[in-house]
Amino acid sequence: MKRIKVNIPSKEYNVYLGKESFKELPAILKREKLEGNFLVVIDNKVNRLYSKIIDQTFNQANLNVKRLVVVSTEKNKSYTTLQRIHSALIKNNFGRDSIIIAIGGGIIGDIAGFAAATFMRGIKFIQIPTTLLSSVDSSVGGKTGINYVNTKNIIGSFHQPSLVIIDTDFFKTLPKDEQLCGLGEIVKYGFLTNERFFNFIRKNVDLILNNDATVIRKVISESIKFKGNIVEADEKESGIRKLLNLGHTFAHAFEVQQKHKLKHGQAVIVGITCSLYLSKELKIISEKDFIKYLDFLLLFSDRIKIAKVNNSTIYNIMKRDKKNRQNEIQFVLVNKIGSILTDVPADRKMVIQSINQAVQHF
Ligand SMILES: NC(=O)c1ccc[n+]([C@@H]2O[C@H](COP(=O)([O-])OP(=O)(O)OC[C@H]3O[C@@H](n4cnc5c(N)ncnc54)[C@H](O)[C@@H]3O)[C@@H](O)[C@H]2O)c1
Repeated sequence: MKRIKVNIPSKEYNVYLGKESFKELPAILKREKLEGNFLVVIDNKVNRLYSKIIDQTFNQANLNVKRLVVVSTEKNKSYTTLQRIHSALIKNNFGRDSIIIAIGGGIIGDIAGFAAATFMRGIKFIQIPTTLLSSVDSSVGGKTGINYVNTKNIIGSFHQPSLVIIDTDFFKTLPKDEQLCGLGEIVKYGFLTNERFFNFIRKNVDLILNNDATVIRKVISESIKFKGNIVEADEKESGIRKLLNLGHTFAHAFEVQQKHKLKHGQAVIVGITCSLYLSKELKIISEKDFIKYLDFLLLFSDRIKIAKVNNSTIYNIMKRDKKNRQNEIQFVLVNKIGSILTDVPADRKMVIQSINQAVQHF
């Protein structure tokens, strides 16, 4: 099992990565000195598919564990679910020393993390991501939150986990389109990091989609190490962390406009394509690089389909993005692999034009 340290000034924690690492939970909790009452907030499908191994692992650990099952939908990433978690903690007389364990994808991790951030002004929580997307991205970095009034992640807080355990065996039951969502965030890391990792991803798209153990382990560990370094430098996203939002301003708007039929990771690929076109409109990227990067993104054009898009609606949703300053949308754009610009304003006409050009591929 691999161990990656995330060294945030306010909090240091370990990410354990490997096959069957979930079974090691009792030993890891001991090593990490994490004890108290545990509330497990678990995805309904994961609870059904893995009930035996989950029961066995908790019994073996001999812990006081209560379990709350949540159906993972963007609609349920809500105040109602937050209240359910807080009520469960209160009903079970859980105090400040209690710990929430999130077992599921990014939806579970985000809500359970926010519940931990807000219960008794903050209790510990553990991330056990079960999707590729949550493993490469959302389980590390401490962004937690819920959706509200048709706006993604608009209510939330920064609250770092105390521990992350990534068991790649969970992906065996992951539907193909969810694996593709994970690949969406991996593609983002390809643009953010360096040519070597970008080319590795490009060469291994099929192996990633087919959950090849060696390739998956490499892309998770590279992505997390990169994200860890960025979050260590800028936990609260006042500077360099904004890079991680590449494609996301567009993506969140597409998700809402498409009524969440377009999943987050797939929307990220569409969003990066829009960012690429906008980078070209603003002459930030060379023609040669634009063609090379677009060619890569087009590998996904048959795999991602979006329903008819109203570009003004997408633009208006983007105007509500929490990253905007003085009512101006701030874009993250591509100059080259590993050279990304943040806080770039753009003319409405250019943005709409970029959306127009990008959506024709999906
Ligand atoms: N906090 C962050 O930094 C951050 C970063 C990226 C994304 N996010 C958020 O993450 C969410 C998306 O996360 P996600 O893609 O993991 O989606 P998800 O949590 O909705 O899970 C996707 C689907 O897979 C199912 N599932 C989960 N694990 C499974 C398994 N092992 N086998 C079979 N089915 C399984 C779930 O029931 C669900 O239907 C979005 O809400 C997004 O906003 C947060």
